Amino acid sequence: MPLRLDFSNMMADTLGQAGIRTAQFEGARAAFATAHAGVAARHAAGQLGFIDLPDDAALLAQSTDFAARVAGRYDDVLVLGIGGSALGPIALRTALRPGAWNMRSAAQRGGLPRLVVLDNVDPVTIAETLALLDLSRTLVVVTSKSGGTVETMAQYLIVRDALTRTVGAERVRDHLVFITDPKSGALRPLAVEQGIPALDIPPNVGGRFSVFTPVGMLPAALIGIDVRGMLDGARALRDRCAAADLATNPAGAFAVLQWLADREHRANVQVLMPYVDAFRDLGAWFVQLWAESLGKLRPDGTSVGPTPLGALGATDQHSQVQLFMEGPKDKTITFVGVRERASQGAIPTAAGDGPELAYLAGHSLAELIDVEQRATAGALAARGKMNMTLTVDRADAFAVGELMMCFELATAYAGELYGVDAFNQPGVELGKRYAYGMLGRSGYEAAKAEFAALPAGDARWRVG
Ligand code: PA5
Repeated sequence: MPLRLDFSNMMADTLGQAGIRTAQFEGARAAFATAHAGVAARHAAGQLGFIDLPDDAALLAQSTDFAARVAGRYDDVLVLGIGGSALGPIALRTALRPGAWNMRSAAQRGGLPRLVVLDNVDPVTIAETLALLDLSRTLVVVTSKSGGTVETMAQYLIVRDALTRTVGAERVRDHLVFITDPKSGALRPLAVEQGIPALDIPPNVGGRFSVFTPVGMLPAALIGIDVRGMLDGARALRDRCAAADLATNPAGAFAVLQWLADREHRANVQVLMPYVDAFRDLGAWFVQLWAESLGKLRPDGTSVGPTPLGALGATDQHSQVQLFMEGPKDKTITFVGVRERASQGAIPTAAGDGPELAYLAGHSLAELIDVEQRATAGALAARGKMNMTLTVDRADAFAVGELMMCFELATAYAGELYGVDAFNQPGVELGKRYAYGMLGRSGYEAAKAEFAALPAGDARWRVG
């Protein structure tokens, strides 16, 4: 069955005053039609290339051909990247490879490599990771759309230096592949000059919308994930969203509900809470997508943006659900569940463990986690807390494709509803310019001076 969105627990029919009224939802149909048309217009103008990725067989072949060519050569794939260049591969590894993939033996992995993603510049992590890897058996995937992101370039220089020392300058290129814009940025000319293979991120696809390009597909193909299945799921979901009809367009309904919850009920903390360990890192991927796309200044100078938050059921029932239940009504919770699980986890009868545990006998962990998801949703609704549930068949490639495309399209629609450009990130520029200035990068002298002129810290406002 296709992905389903059940939003009864968002509505006033269920929640009373705290929910979205039918009239509000009906009234939003016109706003959604405009948003849908806005997305379609930008797509028709050649922007929003992420919508076309499920059909781009040539782009997919860049990843699958490369993976086939190097099969058996590496024990580890090391991805260097940050933000949209890292969160997709991490989410895919967690979702679509057996748990603890990197801790399995080569035989348990079917001879496929481990996947390590370095998405920060903490020197301790980098040193510890490099100390663990045998670089002579490692493929380093350097992913940067812009081909100039400071963190990724610094990682690259360090890892390249370590590679050179291990395999020799002549052989470095056998251990590198770049994923970057076909023309712009520092990586592309380096690839050409040095004969390093380079795969494309189409110019009209931004970092956080790039999981269906080689950014996600190459690491996935290298570790044996069913990349075609993912694209099938993404295509199926996208095609369901062709019409501006909230009754058939799950991404549209998700976007409209979150927007209404924020606008009409000040519920601007939007939690994604899978009850599936495989989807644990999908949360971090969604958080970046929603936050960097929607937290913006509008042209009239007002700020908008819901605050996304990740949670995991049932684990976070013992961490965040107290807040969701009794804290302010400023949140929506979106549960993500599955119709079937690969294991049931039958709970054995507790021989000699006393009557206290007897109620568990005859049940399974699959039942327990599903029941807990439904119980938490019901309990939140009983307290007037808005929640909705996305359900997919199972934690497989098709479903992950459906979910990721659903969130990407929802983000595009939400950008239109909020009146912001979901595809830029001007807010991160100032900090970058200050950092470049402090590092002495040429052309950033003014930024350095601007930073130096910021008010100095005041001793009165320090402790310690
Ligand atoms: O979503 C985005 O556009 C960003 O998070 C980028 O992915 C991130 O800044 C890394 O950029 P790049 O891929 O250009 O190195």
